[in-house]
Amino acid sequence: MFEALTPVSEMLARNLDVLSEQPLLVCGLLEDNLPGMLAQAGPAPHIFTTDFRYYQWQKNQGQCAIEFGVCPEKIEDATGLLLLMPKAKAEAEYLLAACLPLLSPGAQLFMAGDNKGGVKSAPKLLAPYCEQVNKLDSARRASLYQAELMRPAPIFKLDEWLSGYQLEQEQLKICTLPGVFSAGHLDSGSRLLLENITQLQGRVLDFGCGAGVIGAHLLKRQPELELECIDISALALEATRLTLAANGLSANIYASDGLNQLSGTFNHIVANPPFHAGLKTFFHTTESLLSSAKHYLVSGGSLTLVANAFLPYPELIEKSFGHCETIAANGKFKIYRAVNR
Ligand SMILES: C[S@@+](CC[C@H](N)C(=O)[O-])C[C@H]1O[C@@H](n2cnc3c(N)ncnc32)[C@H](O)[C@@H]1O
Repeated sequence: MFEALTPVSEMLARNLDVLSEQPLLVCGLLEDNLPGMLAQAGPAPHIFTTDFRYYQWQKNQGQCAIEFGVCPEKIEDATGLLLLMPKAKAEAEYLLAACLPLLSPGAQLFMAGDNKGGVKSAPKLLAPYCEQVNKLDSARRASLYQAELMRPAPIFKLDEWLSGYQLEQEQLKICTLPGVFSAGHLDSGSRLLLENITQLQGRVLDFGCGAGVIGAHLLKRQPELELECIDISALALEATRLTLAANGLSANIYASDGLNQLSGTFNHIVANPPFHAGLKTFFHTTESLLSSAKHYLVSGGSLTLVANAFLPYPELIEKSFGHCETIAANGKFKIYRAVNR
């Protein structure tokens, strides 16, 4: 899954002499075994990730220490940082703030990424911590920047990174963290889903919970539900915890890659599943949700999801459930429902 080196890592492979001078804390957009490559060239890096799928895969490689969570806790003997530019700039700022307090002044800081993925903002992102930022390399449409940590970075406080919004009608407060889906507003697909979801009962799964908006809405309406919220992102799981707590609600919230970490069966699965054009992995997650959900539902249990109207989901749902009902639609989204008969 993460076997092939990305162009960014291919560019970094030309710079292993500088990168392997010290054990690095590696974080950000990890999509391959760059840490393994570093471990072969020099001291093994310490990896920090907010992505549960990468965490599991890298743990199986067994070459490097790896931590999954909202911020690194212990970085063993890492004395420098390699940040791979994440998709959102706010997430890069967040990762620098979370990682740099663990390093001492004089530490080598590296930032790398695809030129189209915002890495050019590295000098600006590093400016609060460093006096001079150098561009070390540029190839394969990727760039590598280097700088030195000038002074101790301020202590990291998660609550300084919290933002949120209010859902007036439902009287819900939604808390979110950098990089979590639909940060400042309720997604219009999720809204359509919430407007059309019928009364539920028993054990309910909020699949890909993001900031917890679907789960919070369901629990507020029906506090008796036994809700479980799963996501692949540590930041999303934390945002869901905070959202539920802010509204006096509670659920079982845990990391799962798709349905893989679930046990037992549910009465209902509800989802605004991940989709991003061009990213195969996201489609794969939803495809396997549609084909396997039935096995995680009690007899009579339902799967309800929202999706972009153009996606070929009804066929996939029909193939697995034998039917697929479209219960609502607007110009952009459709709500599909299928029952395990
Ligand atoms: C479209 S967002 C929906 C978020 C939230 N439910 C809402 O309606 O605002 C999809 C969510 O799925 C999560 N996700 C992506 N891949 C996943 C996977 N393999 N397993 C579980 N969750 C995943 C993403 O992190 C994201 O939070």
